[in-house]
Amino acid sequence: MVNEIFSMRGRFISLEGSEGSGKSTNLEYIQQWLMQVGKEVVLTREPGGTSLGESIRELLLDKKQTAMLDDTELLLMFTARAQHIGEVIEPALAAGKWVLCDRFTDATYAYQGGGRGIDTSRIASLENWVQGDMRPDLTILLDIPVEQGLKRASQTGAPDRFEQEKTAFFERVRAKYLEMATLESNRYRVIDATPSLAQVQQSIDEMLTAYVKQP
Ligand SMILES: Nc1ncnc2c1ncn2[C@@H]1O[C@H](COP(=O)(O)OP(=O)(O)OP(=O)(O)O)[C@@H](O)[C@H]1O
Ligand SMILES: [Mg+2]
Repeated sequence: MVNEIFSMRGRFISLEGSEGSGKSTNLEYIQQWLMQVGKEVVLTREPGGTSLGESIRELLLDKKQTAMLDDTELLLMFTARAQHIGEVIEPALAAGKWVLCDRFTDATYAYQGGGRGIDTSRIASLENWVQGDMRPDLTILLDIPVEQGLKRASQTGAPDRFEQEKTAFFERVRAKYLEMATLESNRYRVIDATPSLAQVQQSIDEMLTAYVKQP
């Protein structure tokens, strides 16, 4: 009986990667893939995912917010996340839906930790406070060299507050993602995002085929 209740719970998948790696482009592909194997899928994103969270996102990405302190940025990320988990993610998982999220807490470790240099232990204490033991079941990392990703991202409109950062910042972001992928290899799947979209989606297809077979 208890097992039956647990097996009803959906899975939580986060999609990560630095600027222009193709997260938003591949989100719908993954959603369609999961729907074809019978999953009900909720698509969402961070920062954001709720009305309150999207307002916080606007602040975080606003180039006019030049005085924002690193700690303020970190706390805003977790404020939006607390609302997102309570309002959207947990209810969906509890109802048996699969949640597919464009960025989650690993982005905080990569950007505010790797990029800005905030201690990992301080991020971890906020993670534990806001999330308890809730973590993604699967994290898909789209990995791309920084220059190639920034070139792709430059096609999608004016740079936001993060996209104005220098190459060295994004090198630290990428390195942090790859470090987490190594440390948490059970949860992570790294996809080479450098080839054509068709090839990237072929890799995602193979990875998901293996993943859904797992108990
Ligand atoms: N494999 C690919 N080959 C060539 N172009 C691609 C590929 N994947 C995505 N693109 C293009 O690169 C640009 C950036 O992609 P996308 O917006 O999905 O990245 P993102 O990871 O969501 O970036 P951000 O972190 O800025 O949100 C888009 O114009 C998209 O069409
Ligand atoms: Mg995107």
